[in-house]
Amino acid sequence: MVPDLSVLRLNINGADVTVAPPAHWTLLEVLRYQLGLTGSKQGCDKGDCGACTVLFDGKARLSCITLAVDAVGHRVTTIEGWSRRTVSMTCSARSTTAAHCNAASASRG
Ligand code: FES
Repeated sequence: MVPDLSVLRLNINGADVTVAPPAHWTLLEVLRYQLGLTGSKQGCDKGDCGACTVLFDGKARLSCITLAVDAVGHRVTTIEGWSRRTVSMTCSARSTTAAHCNAASASRG
């Protein structure tokens, strides 16, 4: 039997990516198992715990109860994308020393 795959173009952490998950996969499954973004956790997997929360056009959304196909045309930000943005804002907004920003960038690995 041929799996029912969907080719989706998503915007994740500011980058356009193309994925081909099974049609029934959630956004959380695509983030974790196709894109390797494991910061969003698979906790209860039914919308109760919030461990899978992402920003969806800037608003909190539970990725375990969001089909991946529903993310097409929206901006998704995971904790990985949020931490990059926070470091960038900290370095530019506080007029900190270059050493501070370099250390923060290095710790992001
Ligand atoms: S994994 Fe618990 S709300 Fe999504």
